[in-house]
Amino acid sequence: MIRYDAAAKIFTLSTPHTSYQMKTDADGRLLHTWYGRRLPDSCPDMAEPRAPHTDPGCWPDLLPLEYPAPGTADNRCCAVCPEYADGTEAADLRYASHKILPGKYSLPGLPAFRQDANAESLCITLWDAAGLQVELWYAVYPDCDLITRAAVLTNTGSAPLILRRAASACLDFSPRPLELITTDGVWAGERTPHRAPLRPGEQTIGSVRGIPGHAHNPAAILCTPDTTETQGEAWGALLVYSGNFALTAESCEAGTRLLLGIHPYHFAWTLAPGQSFAVPEAAFVYSRQGLGEMSRQFHTAIRRHLLRRPWADPQTPRPVLINSWEACYFTFDEQRLLQLARAAKQADIDLFVLDDGWFQGRNDDGTSLGDWVADPAKLPDGLPGLCKKVNDIGLDFGLWVEPEAISPDSDLYRTHPDWALKIPHRETVAIRRQYTLDFSRPEVVDGIWAQLQAVLNSCPIRYLKWDMNRSLANVYSAALPAARQGEVYHRYVLGVYELQRRLTEAYPDLLLENCAGGGARYDCGMLYFSPQIWCSDNTDARARMSIQYGTGLFYPGCTMGAHFSTVPNHCTGHISAPQARMAMALFGTFGFELDLTAYTQKELDGLTPFIAWYRAHGALLRGGDLYRLVNPDAANLGAAWMTVSHDKVEAAVFAVGTALAGSGGHCPRLVLQGLNESVAYTVTDGENTETCSGFVLQTLGLPLPGDYGEAPSKIWYLKQV
Ligand code: GLA
Repeated sequence: MIRYDAAAKIFTLSTPHTSYQMKTDADGRLLHTWYGRRLPDSCPDMAEPRAPHTDPGCWPDLLPLEYPAPGTADNRCCAVCPEYADGTEAADLRYASHKILPGKYSLPGLPAFRQDANAESLCITLWDAAGLQVELWYAVYPDCDLITRAAVLTNTGSAPLILRRAASACLDFSPRPLELITTDGVWAGERTPHRAPLRPGEQTIGSVRGIPGHAHNPAAILCTPDTTETQGEAWGALLVYSGNFALTAESCEAGTRLLLGIHPYHFAWTLAPGQSFAVPEAAFVYSRQGLGEMSRQFHTAIRRHLLRRPWADPQTPRPVLINSWEACYFTFDEQRLLQLARAAKQADIDLFVLDDGWFQGRNDDGTSLGDWVADPAKLPDGLPGLCKKVNDIGLDFGLWVEPEAISPDSDLYRTHPDWALKIPHRETVAIRRQYTLDFSRPEVVDGIWAQLQAVLNSCPIRYLKWDMNRSLANVYSAALPAARQGEVYHRYVLGVYELQRRLTEAYPDLLLENCAGGGARYDCGMLYFSPQIWCSDNTDARARMSIQYGTGLFYPGCTMGAHFSTVPNHCTGHISAPQARMAMALFGTFGFELDLTAYTQKELDGLTPFIAWYRAHGALLRGGDLYRLVNPDAANLGAAWMTVSHDKVEAAVFAVGTALAGSGGHCPRLVLQGLNESVAYTVTDGENTETCSGFVLQTLGLPLPGDYGEAPSKIWYLKQV
């Protein structure tokens, strides 16, 4: 619901449990006045009474500005910075007009939360007399606590201007103690949560790698110091963007400013008179019931309003797949692949994915990227021959590609050396022995599209894993003049989006999984196209606890590529129990990635009950509400979580290695959440079934497995009696 109080000049956006309010002051500045619990429908004015020394006439740098720009005495970090033809870098943005529209706004060329007739949008136009017009866009959906924001920047002047900064959103908080939570990491250890009190000054996470990268995810939470999983205030923010980003929290006497959007590094976008630039979308959730409720709101919003149909629907089954990577790496021939496919069929797996190494001459990571034609030495009958044989075994077929990459040793590079990003007269940096294609150029995107179409039209490929195995470097495009090189990073991302748009429109039933050397591009921009993203190259159950817990702060389990793999784990050397590995895979998309040809018949038979369990309860896992019960922090090597259906009729509970938490002779218990306390549930662990009231389950809890030995893991299914 969006309301405008014309007399008081107040805009109030309300979701089921939250409100967001702005107000234009007497001088036409747009002030941010509230983001928090839902306000009454009378929409009271939440502008704080100001102390005399904060009179804007004296201290404009203390004002809570909705979209701040430099040159106006606001000296905090700013959202937008135009450089006009006369060299000035300033914009004094004042209210010009607004409109409230039914439905959700869209952004040209950019992924965003989707159109919905029941949504409502607000556009507030601000204007700087030197020519920059800013359209601030907001949207609310009636069924979740999501507020989206974006901006369209237009040059209404008569000379070109250069955008030096173009943030997605800015959010000012009045002075109060706040803590910042981000999810950070490294390759094979992505998105581990870090939480710390804000200190005075700027704290920034970001990326200038051209992709979000392994180090930081484009999402953050501000919360009060007392906020826990189940109580306290939390403001979550994320970007619908897959390139360079900056997310800054700046604390000063005026309070805290949260700013997020495209990183200003090497960003300079020229707008000729009349031209516009759309910034990537930002999305916010506020919760006053802790981090758990904030996550559930993000999950609901992403499932209902971002993911692509038919995969967005929890009822749409996702295939249980086996991926060839950890089983074969680059060493295989057709016979080897078919043996693996046969073993997978015996375990009742649905889909066989051929990972890296299938295209001409690709026997290690040093060659052939860009030559998307099957290697006759490995696949004598090409992809169609292999696909047919896999189909005859009874499995669907899927394939790995890395469309943005080009090997120096490839026919594509020999034919089009200028298609790689490279700085003239400098050595081009190879990472993983490969360069990156210049996706800012439409002809490069067209060339790769033609190759992908040839592959996808050659046989029934049901699943495509789109990988991206390195950061950008040498960012310079042969197709743009010197003065436009500051546009290459963003144009690159637009090129990636364009190719994924073509793919998903031309092959609507293709299941696309994004990947970037594991989880280096895990963001809502990618999720708009691919309903799942490979979470991490680390498939170790213990490591996955932290990675998947952190990922789950923002993104639902149905988006997390997660596979059961072998022990000792190829990444960490750990040995974890099969049940723990199964539980971590079931947290996500549930697939397999190991050499099943080494399994005995008995071992293969041991996998099928889990696959049957996933088929029976997959809709609950994909669509239910997540409750985090035990966090896998350093003091506690275990983790526990549960998924509850919206109607609270059924739930799945997972405990991985949690006995370590309660050792000491007594049986520790796992207190559940999210259930209906006034009904009874049957509780099944695969062997025993008991009946227990929701009240008891949420008060006394479930007994965890014994105290000693290898930390056991347990999976329960609960159904209302
Ligand atoms: C990346 C991916 C892996 C695998 C390899 C293949 O590292 O994350 O899953 O596909 O590339 O080279």
